[in-house]
Amino acid sequence: MYRVLVVDDDSDLRLTVASALSENHFQVDQASDGEEAVNRVRAGKYDLVLLDVNMPRLSGLEALKEIKAHDPSIIALILTAFANVRDAVEATKQGAYNYLEKPIKADNLVYMVEKALKANKMVKDIAMSSPIIKMPGGTEFVGQSVEMKKVFSVIDKLSRVETAVLIRGESGTGKELVASALHHNSPRKDNRFVTINCSAIPETLIESEFFGHEKGAFTGADQRKIGKFQYADGGTLFLDEMGDISMAMQVKLLRALQEKKFTPIGSNREIEVNVRIIAATNRNLEEMIKKNEFREDLFYRLNVLPIQLPPLRDRKSDIEHLSKYFIEKFNTQHRKNITGISADAMEAMKAHQWPGNIRELENVIEHAFVIETADEITSESLPETVLAAARAKGLTLGKVLPAAAFGAEASASELDDGDADIALSVANGALNLGEGLDESGFKLDFTKLDFQANKEEFEKRFLISALKAFNGRINQTALHANIPKKTLLRKLEKYGIVAKDFTE
Ligand SMILES: Nc1ncnc2c1ncn2[C@@H]1O[C@H](COP(=O)(O)OP(=O)(O)OP(=O)(O)O)[C@@H](O)[C@H]1O
Ligand SMILES: [Mg+2]
Repeated sequence: MYRVLVVDDDSDLRLTVASALSENHFQVDQASDGEEAVNRVRAGKYDLVLLDVNMPRLSGLEALKEIKAHDPSIIALILTAFANVRDAVEATKQGAYNYLEKPIKADNLVYMVEKALKANKMVKDIAMSSPIIKMPGGTEFVGQSVEMKKVFSVIDKLSRVETAVLIRGESGTGKELVASALHHNSPRKDNRFVTINCSAIPETLIESEFFGHEKGAFTGADQRKIGKFQYADGGTLFLDEMGDISMAMQVKLLRALQEKKFTPIGSNREIEVNVRIIAATNRNLEEMIKKNEFREDLFYRLNVLPIQLPPLRDRKSDIEHLSKYFIEKFNTQHRKNITGISADAMEAMKAHQWPGNIRELENVIEHAFVIETADEITSESLPETVLAAARAKGLTLGKVLPAAAFGAEASASELDDGDADIALSVANGALNLGEGLDESGFKLDFTKLDFQANKEEFEKRFLISALKAFNGRINQTALHANIPKKTLLRKLEKYGIVAKDFTE
C-alpha cells in the first residue's frame, strides 16, 4: 500500500484530500505545516507528499527542498490556489512532480496521485534494471543491490565467452546459482550442465568420476562407466568445491583442461571433449597455494575470469527482496498465504550477520513459514540465532514464544522406512538428550513430503537444541550428542549456525 502525506494548514482541505485518498486504498497521514511535514518524512517512509505552498513555520517550497534532500525518490505534488500558480511552477523546477489547483476535486486528485506514482515506478524500474538473466524453470536470481547488479552484468558478459570461470564466495552466497546462470544464458544452454561436487567424492573414485573407467579397470569396476567430462561434452562442467580436490587429482585435471583430452582409467584410448569449465570454491586458494595444497598453474588456468560473490551482510538491502521471493516460493509450496514480514522481524533480520548467507535466510524463512500462525512472519517465529543481534542492539521485538509451542506431531504410520525412524524417535522423545534439549520440538512438514527437507529441518533443530544445552561448546555438544566433531562442524556450517550464539 502506498503511503501519502497530506500537508496543509487548512484542516478542512486536509480532511477532504485524506478521505478521498483513503477510499482509494492509500495510507494517508496529515501534517499542518512545513516543519511537521519534514519531521514526519524523516521519521517514516512516504511514497508521495501533497504540499500546500503558503503555510506557517516552514513554507511548502522550503519543506520541499528538505524533503527532497532527505529522500529524492519521494514524489511531491503541490496544492495551490489559482493565484499562486507561479509558486507551483517554481516548485516543479525544484523537483515537484506536478501541481493541483484548489479547490481540489476528488477524481482529479486520485488520478494525479496514481499517475505520479506510476511514472515514478517506471523511472525507478529503468534505473534499477539489470541484464535479464534467464534461469532454469522455477528458480529466480534475486538481487537489487549495487553489488549484485555488478554480478549480473558480469554473468551477462561471461555467459557469452568460452573461457573458464572461477566463482568465489562464502558458503551459501549463491555460487551454484551463478554457475547455473552462466550455463543457461550461454550458447551451450541446450546441452548438459553437469556438476561434480569435488568434496563429496572419495579420493579413490574421483578420477573415475571425472574421466570414467573401463570394465575391470580396478576392483569393483564391474561395468564400464562414462566420466562426467565426457557426459558434459558440448555443455558445461561445473566443478563445485574445487578447493577440496587432492594435489594428485589436480595434476590430472590440469592436463585435461589444457589438452581438452583425457584417458579413462584402464583404457588406452584418448577421448577429446568440448566442455566449458566453471569452478567454485569458498576456500582461500591463494593461502592454499602458499601451503602447497593447491597448484598455482591450475589456479591461473581457472582464475582467468573470477566472479566474487559478496556475503549477504554486505548487501543488506537485498534481504527484503530475497525474503519476498522466498515467501512467494513457500506460499506455493506450502499452500499458505503469508503476506509479508512484520517491521520488527525485518529489522531483526537486517541486524543479523547471516554467516550462512542466502541459504541461511532461505532456511530461516521456511522455518518461520511453517510455524507462523499470523498472516505475516513475525519476530516470534524467527530463531533465537537471528534475534540475538537485534536484542544486543536493544531493538524492541515481539515476545518470543517458547519453541515447545510447536511440538512433535509426527505419526509413524503416515510415513515409511527412513521417515518413520525419525518420526518415531521424535514422537517417543528418544532423540532428546535430557532436560532442556527437547524444547525445540520438531514438526514434520507433510505439505512437502520431502524426506531430505524434513531431515535437514530435524538436523538443524536438533543441533540448535544440543548447542543450547551445552552452552555453545562444540566439544561437549559433539560428545554428548554422539556426533563426530568434524561432522558437527560441517553441519553447523551447512546450516549457518554459529555455536558462539548459544554461549550465555
Ligand atoms: N540471489 C539469489 N536469489 C535467489 N536465491 C538464491 C540467491 N542466491 C542464493 N540463492 C539460494 O540460496 C541457496 C544457496 O545457494 P547456492 O547453493 O548457490 O550457494 P553456494 O554459494 O553454492 O553455497 P555452498 O558454498 O555452501 O555450496 C540456494 O537454494 C539458492 O537457490
Ligand atoms: Mg555450492
